[in-house]
Amino acid sequence: MYVAIMGYGVVGSGVASLLEKNHEHIVKKSMQSEMELKYILDRRTFPGDPYEHLVISDFSKILEDDGVKIVVETMGGVHPAYEYVSACLNAGKSVVTSNKELVATKGCELLRIADEKNVNFLFEASVGGGIPIIRPISQCLAANDIDEIAGILNGTTNFILTKMISDGMTFEDALFLAQKNGYAERDPSADVDGFDACRKICILAALCFGKHVYPDCVHTEGIRKITLADVEYARSWGGVIKLIASAKKLDNGKVSVMVSPAFIQNHSQLATVDDVFNAILVRGDAIGDVVFYGKGAGKMPTASAVVADVIDCAKHMERKKFFGWQDSEPGYVADYLDNITSFYIRGTTQNAAAAIARINSLFGDVQMLTRANAPEGEFAFATDPLSERELDKKLALIEEAEIASVIRITDY
Ligand code: HSE
Repeated sequence: MYVAIMGYGVVGSGVASLLEKNHEHIVKKSMQSEMELKYILDRRTFPGDPYEHLVISDFSKILEDDGVKIVVETMGGVHPAYEYVSACLNAGKSVVTSNKELVATKGCELLRIADEKNVNFLFEASVGGGIPIIRPISQCLAANDIDEIAGILNGTTNFILTKMISDGMTFEDALFLAQKNGYAERDPSADVDGFDACRKICILAALCFGKHVYPDCVHTEGIRKITLADVEYARSWGGVIKLIASAKKLDNGKVSVMVSPAFIQNHSQLATVDDVFNAILVRGDAIGDVVFYGKGAGKMPTASAVVADVIDCAKHMERKKFFGWQDSEPGYVADYLDNITSFYIRGTTQNAAAAIARINSLFGDVQMLTRANAPEGEFAFATDPLSERELDKKLALIEEAEIASVIRITDY
């Protein structure tokens, strides 16, 4: 059996080397007599690379080779990955991808094609890098009614926040370090503005709740605005700031899905998830809370998940694994302004007595927070739970202060 890789970047090259390094064991686990990497599709050339002789730039060679039964897509982005993947599935080839953007935007359609053609479309590496999460949700937790899932799904932002919390580094310095270490996406905006985490929670929500969640329906905030002052106030509150992606089934048949920085308490299972590690909490009716933890990014952890899917495809050539969800109707994702939560608010004022009086009259008896060496006129507090819509109305009424930061407080 032949395998092809489309996209010879960090993950694609990890897949090629893992297929060779553990070749004997992979062939055995695949229940095949042989498995060989035949093509690597990439526009670039790789002089001196051990797989240079396999690199091609013409996709039709893969498509037209009937011996290629499994295609690995590690190109990233939606186009041309979508066109190539759908062509491969339509041609009766199984596809394995690590591409979360592709699965989050086109997953429902690609799964349907795979179903029609009786081949597999697997994407374990698209969420949580090397952490097993897609298969555990769809198989091991299949008996549960899962009503909530939340986690730290982006390693780069978790690394940045960890550096801010533990080393007092500014956001800019920590981002520079993350880029230097090779963690950040090609465009760091995908990480720091929350889009990468958004795509991942969309995939998990679709898998858990059975309907596609489109990334553009999800309220997404990144970590650019988080300052060391916010980190200090979180500490005085008894917690840390993490970028949390969450999805929850609502009683009205809709889902609440969001990505935003959040205060979480020090005793939360997610609070001690540091550096590039990811953690995903799944709340099922029979299992209760279960947390999956591990390296959410990186060449070999991600390649590990891709190659496991390749093995699964090879083992299930004649027995398609059922993975799937329906498309969703407009309005399936509830308006985030109706979410009810507590908030941390930081601001500055020239008239502390008047600002505090106004805050108390609007929000009641709030929990005031302090930090060492706070500049004159700075204040911060935590509210009781209220809707985002109500919060916006109340904040607009605070004339005595400038609001500098608003961060949600979660109970994960
Ligand atoms: N840039 C991503 C992250 C890579 O930092 O988590 C894995 O999807």
